[in-house]
Amino acid sequence: MSVFSENFLWGGAVAANQVEGAYNIDGKGLSTSDLLPNGLFGEIVERTDKNSSLKDNGIDFYNLYPEDIKLFAEMGFKVLRTSIAWTRIFPNGDEKHPNKDGLDFYDHLFDEMLKYGIQPLITLSHFEMPMGIINKYGGWKNRKTIELFENYAVTVFDRYKNKVKLWLTFNEINIALHEPFTGVGLARNSSRQEIFQALHHQLVASARVVKHCHNIIEGSKIGNMVAAGLVYPLSCNPADVVQAMVQNREWLFFNDVQARGTYPSYMTRYFTENNISLEITEQDRIDLAETVDFLSFSYYMSGCATADENKKIQERGNILNMVPNPHLPASDWGWQIDPDGLRVLLNTLYDLYQKPLFIVENGLGAKDNLHSDGTICDDYRIEYLKAHIQQIKESIKDGVDVMGYTCWGPIDLISAGTAQMSKRYGFIYVDRTDNGEGSLTRMKKKSFDWYKKVIESNGEIL
Ligand code: BG6
Repeated sequence: MSVFSENFLWGGAVAANQVEGAYNIDGKGLSTSDLLPNGLFGEIVERTDKNSSLKDNGIDFYNLYPEDIKLFAEMGFKVLRTSIAWTRIFPNGDEKHPNKDGLDFYDHLFDEMLKYGIQPLITLSHFEMPMGIINKYGGWKNRKTIELFENYAVTVFDRYKNKVKLWLTFNEINIALHEPFTGVGLARNSSRQEIFQALHHQLVASARVVKHCHNIIEGSKIGNMVAAGLVYPLSCNPADVVQAMVQNREWLFFNDVQARGTYPSYMTRYFTENNISLEITEQDRIDLAETVDFLSFSYYMSGCATADENKKIQERGNILNMVPNPHLPASDWGWQIDPDGLRVLLNTLYDLYQKPLFIVENGLGAKDNLHSDGTICDDYRIEYLKAHIQQIKESIKDGVDVMGYTCWGPIDLISAGTAQMSKRYGFIYVDRTDNGEGSLTRMKKKSFDWYKKVIESNGEIL
């Protein structure tokens, strides 16, 4: 018998802005992602016909999704995580009526998944929001954005209530602390006061939407999503241990609010010491009390924390402020590989919140070699995923309630951080280069059959 439950949700995860392309087709409006041709941490550019980006066409999932979903079904996916591009539904964010073409597109997409028995797991906002809201209302610093987001969420809940039962509110909600433009639609030089106020609005919006989801969709489950920036103390010096505790709270804090329904007490101290004073209404407190059904997170790597200023070398991964761990190898992009960290993480989150956990992103971004005979031997990817799934197994044995695992990028896509095609995560290779050349043909990598077996054996054969 497998350690994984019979209904364990195996699958993969992608995001609209990294696969769909069709950035200005069928009435779609401009989003923050469209102004970041070089990725999350790249320059914010004014959008003109001249500055195109790989994301404009992505991997053309907008047109090729039937082929891709068929391949996911062949691997036996039970679930596919993707996001709805808010700007396909409300191009500027504040229209009275939704865009019919956008709604139709997702209807077809979800039908295609359901045809194969693949459950959609849908993120409402994955690294994109309408530029219309930023230009007119100033992004999430304006309370009005809560209402606009609710309206968008209610529209899609109503529309897809018979097709989609699993939802996530904001992807990596803690990204705003590192990249406020993508996170909350604010300028990069915004103060901590402005960012935390915008985040407060986002947390309230998330909680309100959780309530709408429960009211509108029978049998629904909705979770939050945080980038797990797990850090260990660099040494057993107590000062490093304290520093690691403080740094871990930077991302745990979001789980505290979304799973417990209130701000944790340590944030009071943080806000006081940093002269941050949030406007929190009585109604906000009531709204925040509506908590998520499960906690979800991305996990790619861990890092270390130290109190020693001289050792605080900052490595840029998808989470900042991490000091490299001398015991761990790293990926081609310098992300340190730590399967044991996943067990630490799952146990920590379960001990703290006692809610089901869903690993909605994990994977290895690597350069793949396409041989002349059309094969791609990505043993390194198999090794990475195998080691991580092994640690999920250990965690389940520890008693942790894990709902599912959707590894990141089951098909090659445009990377979020650097907007590259060459940073490949997939079981399926896509013929496209960083220059945008290529036929977009899909090809199975060695890992394709491996993951198929993992799912078939419910995690027994790794
Ligand atoms: C997470 C994001 O930060 O990491 C994804 O939710 C992203 O959108 C993933 O793609 C991997 O990061 P990158 O930069 O390698 O694409």
